Amino acid sequence: MVRQDKKNKQPFTMIIFGASGDLTKRKLMPALYELFKDDRLDSGFSIVGVGRSEYSDEAFQAYQTEQLKEFVADEEQDKTLMNEFVNHLHYVAMDSANADDYPLLLEKLQEITGEKQPSHLLFYLATPPSLYGKIPLHLKEVNLNQSGARIIVEKPFGYDLQSAQELNEIYASVFEEEQIYRIDHFLGKETAQNILAFRFANCIFEPIWNRNYIDYVEVTAVESLGIEKRGGFYDGVGALRDMVQNHLIQLVALTAMEPPVRFNADGFRNEVVKVYDSLRPLTDEDFEEHVVRGQYIREGNKPGYREEENVPSTSRTETYIAMKIGIENWRWSGVPFYIRTGKALPTKVTEIVVHFKKTPYQMFQCNEGDCPDANKLIIRIQPNEGIVLRFGMKKPGTGFDVKSVSMDFTYDKLGDVSIGDAYARLLEDCIQGDQTLFTRSDAVESSWRFFAPLLDYWKENEDAPLYGYPVGTWGPLESEAMMNDHDATWTNPCKNLTNTDQYCEL
Ligand code: BG6
Repeated sequence: MVRQDKKNKQPFTMIIFGASGDLTKRKLMPALYELFKDDRLDSGFSIVGVGRSEYSDEAFQAYQTEQLKEFVADEEQDKTLMNEFVNHLHYVAMDSANADDYPLLLEKLQEITGEKQPSHLLFYLATPPSLYGKIPLHLKEVNLNQSGARIIVEKPFGYDLQSAQELNEIYASVFEEEQIYRIDHFLGKETAQNILAFRFANCIFEPIWNRNYIDYVEVTAVESLGIEKRGGFYDGVGALRDMVQNHLIQLVALTAMEPPVRFNADGFRNEVVKVYDSLRPLTDEDFEEHVVRGQYIREGNKPGYREEENVPSTSRTETYIAMKIGIENWRWSGVPFYIRTGKALPTKVTEIVVHFKKTPYQMFQCNEGDCPDANKLIIRIQPNEGIVLRFGMKKPGTGFDVKSVSMDFTYDKLGDVSIGDAYARLLEDCIQGDQTLFTRSDAVESSWRFFAPLLDYWKENEDAPLYGYPVGTWGPLESEAMMNDHDATWTNPCKNLTNTDQYCEL
């Protein structure tokens, strides 16, 4: 399966800090291999791994070959192409936290590029967040921030508003904003981008996409896996910082934003920031009644969060959070957005459900419990990617019974067009110098500004409720109760949802 649009290839040398880490082997190398296989990379490209482990170039190539075999889908593996790909890999053993080691990196880059002042550099920070503030400063000391170098930084960008502002200041002292790519891989997902096409390339939805017709919106991104081996990172970060402040709020922005004046980096990102700036500030009442946090607990032989590796037995880190948020502007005033994320839930699914208002009165006969629902539009980001519209239809036969039915589109109906990996899309955009799908400094700060009072509230109220939910359940029951005031409920897709499942909850 191939992606269709080919772009002009651009020369680059990508330097990956954290080269022996999880992200590199699971996401970055497979994504770069995918681009290479699709003939989307300039023939002279190089990838330089940076890490503390001692590898020669050859040993690093051999190690990455093994990882590719594990993390690239079987049908995409081609031995000859993999060998060609890894020949572009190099390695520098150094401590990224130590300024004294950076001349080593400079030397290696001079050797690879044959340039005294290496150009077309692209730094990827796949390291623990504690290094995000140090690496750019060290790069500057050896002038590696020059010649249009770009830097990609993983999330979470900052730990709270203040640390995000401090990081932004550090980055601004080393790079121009045009050189900084803050990555949020949800924006690289084809189905997330399609929300924009669905809304702005069709004119039938736009007139009803507002408070006059929409009752409420759900945004769900849940997973069946627990935190696995990531306890060291996750504990103290929690679901709010890991998923909500970035991924979920991006999905809210895509759903709620105004059409950009032009579809380019500034046009799109201006509208995202406007959504964040319009979020209704959270109050004490919200903290107590419209935020539910939970932590998974043991169910049978499936361990609870506090039993996971590198997690303290008294941890109060949330692995689940559900919130009601509001957007104060003409389009959305009064329409609640319910958002939730959680680990160790019954299935992995990311979707947006737009609930339209009920008809003014029920004209057709129906038996209680069997009456048609209000219209619902489900945008399934993953898996079983697609869009479903629910509407009422007359049951064939005598009488005039009406029931809800689905009209659906799924991406697999597009035949051999591949959905493409989010990281591959974003890495290619960065190589091309397209910042549209990367987060701008003002958006990061605006999002933190919105969540800061909640983080402060939890800090000041250590005994604020943290509900336990058994592994494999849909989270604390309180998250349902939270929606009662709007007569709303969560749409829970069926268990064990797979790519081939239909929308079985409907
Ligand atoms: C990451 C989070 O950003 O997104 C993880 O750190 C989470 O905790 C992951 O599992 C989910 O991404 P995806 O693309 O698998 O839905």
